[in-house]
Amino acid sequence: MTPPVLASASRAATATAEWPLRTGNGHPPGGCLWTPLGTPPSLDCMVSQPSLRPPAPLDPAGVAAALLPFGQSLMLPRAAYVDPAVFAWEQRYFFGGGWLCVGRSDQVPRPGDQHAEPAGEGSVLLVRGEDGVLRAFANTCRHRGHELLPCGAAAQQKVIICPYHSWTYSLDGGLRAAAGFKNKPGFTAGDWGLTELPVTEWHGLVFVDSSGTAAPLTDLLGSLAEFVAPYEPERLVVAGQHDYETTANWKILTENYHECYHCPAIHPELCRVSPPKSGENYAAPGMWAGGWMDLRDGMATMSLDGASHGVPLRGLDAKGLRTVLYLNIFPNVLISLHPDYVMVHRLMPLAVGRTRIECTWAFAPESLALPGFDPGYAIEFWDLTNRQDWAACESVQRGLTSPHAVPGPLSPQEDAVYQIVTMIARGYQGQPVWNPGLPTWTAATPAAAR
Ligand code: FES
Ligand SMILES: [Fe+2]
Repeated sequence: MTPPVLASASRAATATAEWPLRTGNGHPPGGCLWTPLGTPPSLDCMVSQPSLRPPAPLDPAGVAAALLPFGQSLMLPRAAYVDPAVFAWEQRYFFGGGWLCVGRSDQVPRPGDQHAEPAGEGSVLLVRGEDGVLRAFANTCRHRGHELLPCGAAAQQKVIICPYHSWTYSLDGGLRAAAGFKNKPGFTAGDWGLTELPVTEWHGLVFVDSSGTAAPLTDLLGSLAEFVAPYEPERLVVAGQHDYETTANWKILTENYHECYHCPAIHPELCRVSPPKSGENYAAPGMWAGGWMDLRDGMATMSLDGASHGVPLRGLDAKGLRTVLYLNIFPNVLISLHPDYVMVHRLMPLAVGRTRIECTWAFAPESLALPGFDPGYAIEFWDLTNRQDWAACESVQRGLTSPHAVPGPLSPQEDAVYQIVTMIARGYQGQPVWNPGLPTWTAATPAAAR
């Protein structure tokens, strides 16, 4: 039986005490929740401000030790890497508490394209509308909560259909059909649309804010776009992807990404094409960290022999052709910008000691048009390097599992590790990572605002 088409549905505008929902794409109306950086919120906003978070369940002295000045600080408390309670807090307040990279624009390029991805404690459904606008919805049917698509799955159709009882939504999230509910007294289709979440496409990456409370992504990334824009990642074509599953906490992988102190010991191939002590890290205001490294003379890119089999990216200047940028957007995306390709690692935490990593390699269309083009020169090099890194990170995880493990100091070469660790530590203290202008959580914060 064909379900009745219900009168024009608009998305629900309800809100829980915890996470306010929004009904429009992108920024919510009003702006109270979207306080510009550095602007103190009004008292009204503070009372209803849901982005404040309680501290993570960690020893406060241990977190404070990570925030001492560089050279004196220690790594995060051991529990941050091994305690499921800390992981649960992170899923809620880091991965579900602000902007999270959930994929690429080219995964949902056409109207009707749908794709589901994990995001914090839940998952999100990305949908490209008939109007070409990308929208994100909580991947939860408004009937009895069935996932609209399994995580990682994709669909292409003119409507969104729940697999359980076939409630049907339009691509903008409005409820269009629900069998048995036609003319049901008291039932208004407009009250039962999907829950829409803020979504932003940034240089070909898709970010979703599951909390609905973060400041605009571009404000939080500050100057990062200046470094990324010349590479035009949104123009590049993914020519390779590897999916890894590691037995390491996501922070160990992130910290490892931010230093080459370990390179002489575990990456002989990398050291042959890029001096491990070269480059510097940026003083990065905002929710990112990173820096650059040089290529050795005679080396065109990161590959086993230093040769490129593609063409240089068209927007790069002389420095861009001689360097590789390594950038991390908190909390889960690592962008490595090469003279001729862009590699992106997206981290998806599965458990406190387990992380899935999606790694993609994207090249200019001109490279793909070369006769017999083979992206293997880049993929082979980084797959080897990735596996060397994962092995080290998994060993760190095992080492930190020991009750004898205590936080160690950082070397002078680990300044970007310090940047990311302090960002995380401030988040653990309850400071609003995605809304730096907002006050810190205190025990007096009303429950409704947590
Ligand atoms: S749970 Fe989706 S239609 Fe019933
Ligand atoms: Fe490494």
